Amino acid sequence: MRQHHGTACVLGSLLLIAAAGTSSSATTAGSAPASAAARTAPVPLGRVVPAPLAVEPGGPGFEITAKTRIRVGSGNADERRVGEYLAGILRPSTGYRLPVTDRDGGDGIIRLRISAEPANKALGDEGYRVISTRGSLTITSWTSTGLFHGVQTVRQQLPAAVERRTPQRGPWRIAGGTIRDMPRYAYRGSMLDVSRHFFPVDHVKRYIDQLALYKMNKLHLHLSDDQGWRIAIDSWPRLATYGGSTQVGGGPGGYYTKDQYKDIVAYAASRGLQVIPEIDTPGHTNAALASYAELNCDGVAPPLYTGTEVGFSSLCVNKDITYDFVDDVVRELAALTPGGTVHIGGDEAHSTSHEDFVTFMGKVQPLVTKYGKSVMGWHQLAGAHPVPGAVAQYWGYDRTGQAERDQVVNAARNGTKLVLSPADRSYLDHKYDKDTKLGLSWAGYVEVQRSYDWDPGTYLKGAPADAVLGVEAPLWTETLSTPAQLDYMAFPRLPGIAELGWSPAAAHDWGKYRTRLAEQAPRWDALGIGYYKSPQVPWPYR
Ligand code: ACM
Repeated sequence: MRQHHGTACVLGSLLLIAAAGTSSSATTAGSAPASAAARTAPVPLGRVVPAPLAVEPGGPGFEITAKTRIRVGSGNADERRVGEYLAGILRPSTGYRLPVTDRDGGDGIIRLRISAEPANKALGDEGYRVISTRGSLTITSWTSTGLFHGVQTVRQQLPAAVERRTPQRGPWRIAGGTIRDMPRYAYRGSMLDVSRHFFPVDHVKRYIDQLALYKMNKLHLHLSDDQGWRIAIDSWPRLATYGGSTQVGGGPGGYYTKDQYKDIVAYAASRGLQVIPEIDTPGHTNAALASYAELNCDGVAPPLYTGTEVGFSSLCVNKDITYDFVDDVVRELAALTPGGTVHIGGDEAHSTSHEDFVTFMGKVQPLVTKYGKSVMGWHQLAGAHPVPGAVAQYWGYDRTGQAERDQVVNAARNGTKLVLSPADRSYLDHKYDKDTKLGLSWAGYVEVQRSYDWDPGTYLKGAPADAVLGVEAPLWTETLSTPAQLDYMAFPRLPGIAELGWSPAAAHDWGKYRTRLAEQAPRWDALGIGYYKSPQVPWPYR
């Protein structure tokens, strides 16, 4: 999956050579190889995505050689785990042994250190420092998550060829100096819709790796919708076995067994991400209604649905069994969720009256908190008395009416936290322009600049800045069914949303960002990630 073979690989390397050392100018394919000096120039310190908080370049910097060792503390399992992860990235492309060791001796070490020294604690739960000198490269943090984020920065400071899975030519130099970094927001996520089209575990892991590369820390999984129920629930087994048996356009669909789901959650955790499961209610529930007739007000199960309409289904708000059902589902889901949040949907409940919607949310939110989880919902929750601690996910767009915005702003003033997913900015399923073959466009076209060029801190006028927990980029899959299609829609927009969530507001600058973004392209090639070659970005080649 991550590998590129044959001519594409060779071409990619040549182009990478041509690209090294040029910052903003476009270099066309087939141009003469650049000088050796240009080829070996390290990535300038801090020229990564997302932009770091503080960068102090200086000194000769570190070089990874055949003698380099990855030094971790004796008995420190977290340092060792991150060390093995780093070695796993570096070994195939460098061809070096890179032992992970707790022994002193030799020169040239990459030191991974988790420590509670004040300089680390000042950078919070996810911050880190990278210190690159001639003799050593140190990544240090208060937490293993911060250490992991530091590793992502080091990856991007190395030549893009480091991401290939076969031996490449060095040298493997990292510019000298110090990076101090921490995120602007605690919530930096993406949603993957595994309901409209089902994506097996390996595809989800691939997406997790892409999110981790850009220091995102939440994977919101949209596990149920009209077209499919994707998680095994022991007390209601037909949800998965029948409700999960198809998808948009027909076909077999699928679902995660509990063991598979736990595997996703563990894999995400190993990469610094928390999984937020969503069971969309009371609308977007045809797959559940088709699986159990008793959930329907008229007691008749509708057929499975493979189209792409929205707003036609609703759980039966006035039946007790509805709440037994939600209680069972939330209980089983909560047991699979080490993170603190369960998402209950709430969008596009067009077949539920407002009164019923408020009644429903009034009964369902306590079922989430009862199992020790906090409630997250789409922003319609703001109009249905969100419980204390609830998070509303804003998915409006420029044409969203003032009354709807006011409702969200008022909830925020009353303590509801917000995650911002403006559809005409952050929706990764939206077409880039009129010629994009994949995707939807109900909120307009979302080119790369539009996706990046907004400020989460001031986006919802009147909402207190500290109500904003962060940003999330949803990837809906009505039109997407393969990893290549996910890549094409996520890249290059996903790194921009990641930067909005991570980098300080003062770093926001489209003109500079587009150049840093362009420099990511050889990395995507090396990783086998396809992307949209937006004309707004000065790619090193076209
Ligand atoms: C949504 O796009 N229906 C949240």
